[in-house]
Amino acid sequence: MKIIKSVNQLQKELKKLKKQGKSIGFTPTMGALHNGHLQLVKRMLKENDVGVVSVFVNPTQFNDAKDLKKYPRTLKKDSELLKKAKLDILFAPSEKEVYPKGKKNTLSIDLNGLDTRMEGKFRPGHFEGVCQVVHRLLDIVTPDRLYMGQKDFQQFTIIQQMINNLKLNVKLVVCDIIREKNGLARSSRNERLTKKQRDEAQIINKTLLWLKRNRNKYSVGELKSRALKKLEIPGFKPEYVSIVNGKTLKNIRKMSSHSYVVACVAVWSGEIRLIDNIILKNK
Ligand code: PAF
Repeated sequence: MKIIKSVNQLQKELKKLKKQGKSIGFTPTMGALHNGHLQLVKRMLKENDVGVVSVFVNPTQFNDAKDLKKYPRTLKKDSELLKKAKLDILFAPSEKEVYPKGKKNTLSIDLNGLDTRMEGKFRPGHFEGVCQVVHRLLDIVTPDRLYMGQKDFQQFTIIQQMINNLKLNVKLVVCDIIREKNGLARSSRNERLTKKQRDEAQIINKTLLWLKRNRNKYSVGELKSRALKKLEIPGFKPEYVSIVNGKTLKNIRKMSSHSYVVACVAVWSGEIRLIDNIILKNK
């Protein structure tokens, strides 16, 4: 596995590979890798001749300076895991490499309101930062396929919108949520949960599964209020339970009026914010 820190060097390397007709897969990450990321990497390596993973904690997507500071940075461990996974190229740039002209975002994309709902309400500016960095990384790597996880449902929906909007020549591949034995979705933030919080956090997946089982039993309003109640356990503070159209991310009123419906939740466990989702129907 090659570890590359400069954009120039990465582009030289990729140019050589593309000349040989090799297809390139790309998985952007902020490091603190876990099994969820490794599943993306596995699929990427299966579907492409060459796999590239970036590890870059993008400052422009954090609306809370404390959260940015606390974000785990574990490059040594990450590179060991990626080497074991037989990755070809690990791209670990500095902020200067990613934003040589400064962090100001000059990208203007019409996201059709997708960025203002759910996470957008609680993390102003977050998705602008995500689009800025993913756009920049795609520009550097120019992959054939981009790999992202379903866990960040709103994120991949917005990135797909950006790809369509800017007519970017890349295929977005969305991979299933990877869960721990107790159902908790794997995420880098989870790493900061105590054992007790981790045990308690199984209520999130249990609530999502309950929503799916009961999607036709109650009205959408009733489903949401019952789910919120289930998540209100000591030490936990649900921020939202949204039941939305899977394409527009708009709240729905009636299950039967939509063919693609997703339930998304955000919950605070102490100081750690967890998000998760489940597809309630897709047909
Ligand atoms: O999902 C993440 O880890 C980040 O938002 C991403 C896509 C790597 C952009 O920084």
